[in-house]
Amino acid sequence: MTDTPTSSSLSRSTSPSTSLATSLPAPRHEGRYRVAMVCLGNICRSPVADVVFSERVAAAGLADRVEVVSAGTADYHVGKPMDPRAAQSLTTAGYDPSRHRAQQFQAVWHDEADLILVMDNSNLADVRGLGDGGEPERVRLFRDFDPDFPGGEVPDPYYGGEEGFGEVLSMVERTSAHLVELVAGVVTR
Ligand code: 4NP
Repeated sequence: MTDTPTSSSLSRSTSPSTSLATSLPAPRHEGRYRVAMVCLGNICRSPVADVVFSERVAAAGLADRVEVVSAGTADYHVGKPMDPRAAQSLTTAGYDPSRHRAQQFQAVWHDEADLILVMDNSNLADVRGLGDGGEPERVRLFRDFDPDFPGGEVPDPYYGGEEGFGEVLSMVERTSAHLVELVAGVVTR
């Protein structure tokens, strides 16, 4: 008789992305970690994730070990600052959005980044379609690390109202808090 999976083991094995990610791939270079945040345009979601996560990294005393960058899969806004609504949401919450300039994701990052965190499933498909697609464990949905609601997308706020940007910021803040603990674990081991 063949073993039939229980419903709980079945749901775990078929829906891995709905459980919180609690480990990270090993650093390519001991004591250092490079994280790339990726969305479509690199003017709304990934820059917010870049600024907030960088601030958490600095607050944890890891700024000299952990590099954070962001990029878009598209080249629409290369060289431009953040969308003013994203910048305003950050400024209101006490962050500095002023240094950001949009850049496009490069396939070579698959060989250089320790972790590529994409904002939605469309970004995931785009990034995995570039170059050799990267190592699956190094290309993940950002919200796999969301401690409250793991496995979802960071919805694109570009065509919506201001409230979408507040929603993005709160997802990013709680996810960054979890992520910095995991990164601290792999760079200070
Ligand atoms: P992001 O948002 O991917 O979070 O930066 C967008 C920005 C620009 C566009 C789409 C999404 N656009 O189509 O120009």
